[in-house]
Amino acid sequence: MCVGTQWKKRIVAIFMVSMLGLFGCAAPEDASESLELVRADAPTYSDEYITVGFIQTGKESDWRDANTNDFLSTFTRENGYNLIYIDGNSDSDRQIKAMNDLISQEVDYIIIDPIVETGWNDSLLAAQEKGIPVIVSDRMVNADESLYTCWIGSDFETEGHKAAKWLEEYLESVGRTDETIRIVILEGTEGASAAIGRTNGLNAEIEKHENWEVLTTRCANFTQGEGKNIMEEILKEYEDIDVLISENDNMMFGAMKAMEQAGVSYGVDGDVITVSFDALHEAFELMMEGKLMVSVECNPLIAGLSHEVIQKLEAGEEIDMVNYVEESVFSYENAADYINERKY
Ligand code: AHR
Repeated sequence: MCVGTQWKKRIVAIFMVSMLGLFGCAAPEDASESLELVRADAPTYSDEYITVGFIQTGKESDWRDANTNDFLSTFTRENGYNLIYIDGNSDSDRQIKAMNDLISQEVDYIIIDPIVETGWNDSLLAAQEKGIPVIVSDRMVNADESLYTCWIGSDFETEGHKAAKWLEEYLESVGRTDETIRIVILEGTEGASAAIGRTNGLNAEIEKHENWEVLTTRCANFTQGEGKNIMEEILKEYEDIDVLISENDNMMFGAMKAMEQAGVSYGVDGDVITVSFDALHEAFELMMEGKLMVSVECNPLIAGLSHEVIQKLEAGEEIDMVNYVEESVFSYENAADYINERKY
């Protein structure tokens, strides 16, 4: 397992500074100190701080904003870090390019939230050759485990099972076990672990019910806008939808708008059963109104565990390769009991 890297030089090459302008921003050694750059000179960081490059997916959802804020408020000077934050802008090539830049800068640690699982091998190998530990956060990478330090995030496949199990129990409770149930699924970004895992979990449960019929599964990229547009198309093609499963809350919010505009009722007192993922604060409000029926939690507060992992590595301690965050299931029946303690 990787050990501490306090010994490592924290000098950033001048040509990489221009890349920072492109991809992110790093705080200077002292907040009051301005970073003066002279050709062939390089900004230096005090050995007091650990330099961490964090490559985010982008800003596709409210979940993502909560995740970004968690990292920005954890990897602070007070906690001993120089944070270089990079917005991937929903572009996988940009993420890889940013990773290669961070490797050239010889940062102490790299944390990646990969948009998609594929394409990381070469960069992971390059980081390993430079001795830079890489923490994979939230979504996973399709690469050999020996190429990165650890992964921290959600059990997406279990989330998919939980959503379908809730549906099964709900249908039982309203006496619809033997009815044909027509399901529409809004999927997240193709190739993203959150979409792959949730879809696999859902499908494994759906297959167990002969009377559950999936009308269509469409990708809406985890965004509210696409959730609305894709649902508008679906509503033109299918009349009797019993269940809408959206692989995140934001796509569900967009789909709800589309249903309202098309005069389709949904929720506890409506025609379409609404099942979603993330459990955002807004989702709790909608569950309390009976519009959203269930949201399987996906916990965005991963930064604390990432900080712990780095502290352990700095102390030369062993760490676990796979680290799951805690998650629960909330429905219209219990949302009111929990809304006040929600952090995102
Ligand atoms: O990877 C986690 C998923 O990505 C969340 O469910 C979604 O809202 C986000 O954009």
